[in-house]
Amino acid sequence: MNILITGGAGFIGSHVIRRLIKNYPDYNIYNLDALTYAGNLENLRDIEDASNYTFLKGDIVDESYINEIFKKYNFNGVIHLAAESHVDRSISDPLAFVKTNIFGTVNLLNAARNLWKDDFSNKRFYHVSTDEVYGSLGSEGLFLETTAYDPNSPYSASKASSDHFVRAYGETYGLPYVITNCSNNYGPNHFPEKLIPLFINNIIEGKPLPVYGDGKYTRDWLFVEDHARAIDLVFHKGRNHETYNIGGFNEWQNIDLVQLLCRQMDKKLDKPAGTSEKLITYVKDRPGHDLRYAIDASKIHKELGWKPSVTFEQGLERTIDWYLENEDWLNSVTSGLYQEYYKKMYN
Ligand code: NAD
Ligand code: TYD
Repeated sequence: MNILITGGAGFIGSHVIRRLIKNYPDYNIYNLDALTYAGNLENLRDIEDASNYTFLKGDIVDESYINEIFKKYNFNGVIHLAAESHVDRSISDPLAFVKTNIFGTVNLLNAARNLWKDDFSNKRFYHVSTDEVYGSLGSEGLFLETTAYDPNSPYSASKASSDHFVRAYGETYGLPYVITNCSNNYGPNHFPEKLIPLFINNIIEGKPLPVYGDGKYTRDWLFVEDHARAIDLVFHKGRNHETYNIGGFNEWQNIDLVQLLCRQMDKKLDKPAGTSEKLITYVKDRPGHDLRYAIDASKIHKELGWKPSVTFEQGLERTIDWYLENEDWLNSVTSGLYQEYYKKMYN
């Protein structure tokens, strides 16, 4: 099989590539990534010399390039992760999200359709999406695969749109697809603009921990390797034209999560208990901030036997250890443009 993975130099994509390279030595894995601020080939250093791995630097928005590589490498599977992925950035620059998340996805769909149209058998377009397309929950209830889409941020609106296009290509042209909508991921290689890696980095640097609003917002956290395992399973065993929700069965209010993180960091850094918590600073809320996300992952559990393998405490400890052991990675991604982003966002 010739499998195209888009966004493989990013956070989740790098874990997916590592898993597939190791588990399927007979597959040719092609990683297409534009290497935006969020893409980093350091994430794949350990597997870059594998004989079944090829890196392609390119932009999914570039139609002719996308058509060219589909013809050249004759892909029979696509796992599409490339995206602009940060809600706060989508608030300041929505068009970048329209371009990559919508235009880019449609380019890939067109290229797959053109290449596969005479024979859809043994082909699969796997679109990796988010639970944020469902909007916000109140204090009760869970997102099901049948929950109506109700996106609130430019990020989630662009992902919702891309999900609709994937489904539409399935209905209209018969393109074989699967979609997964996953909750918040955390783990090694996460760019330090999202809550957990940002706060780990700020604790290391002794900087304030900017908690938005009252800190009572709730997210359902999943360790990234468990997401990669779910993607592997759905890609191989999921039913065509189906959506699967993936979640951690692990809801945390932001403030409780931050306090747990502070306690674990104090222990790791040999600081007196309570040191990191003093850095917590309540700041202006995010506009349109979704109150709560929580996934009902019973469909993937019942159909494919998937469930998370790592508890939150274990996953968080592994994540903290990784950041403390990979200071060079952290220093390299937080130099340059990151500093400008940070000033604009938090000062
Ligand atoms: P990320 O921001 O860490 O990585 C995105 C990758 O895509 C980067 O390597 C970047 O260089 C690449 N990319 C961006 N624009 C591109 C373009 N135009 N052409 C080619 N490559 C481009 O994102 P992530 O957190 O790894 O998320 C991956 C996917 O999973 C996204 O589709 C996201 O919506 C989805 N998702 C993420 C989470 C999460 O918690 N991080 C949860 C559910 C779903
Ligand atoms: P984030 O990691 O950006 O993921 P998402 O918005 O996609 O869920 O944010 C997770 C939660 O943490 C969300 O409720 C916003 C909040 N948050 C803060 O309180 N401060 C921050 O600096 C960031 C980045 C997020």
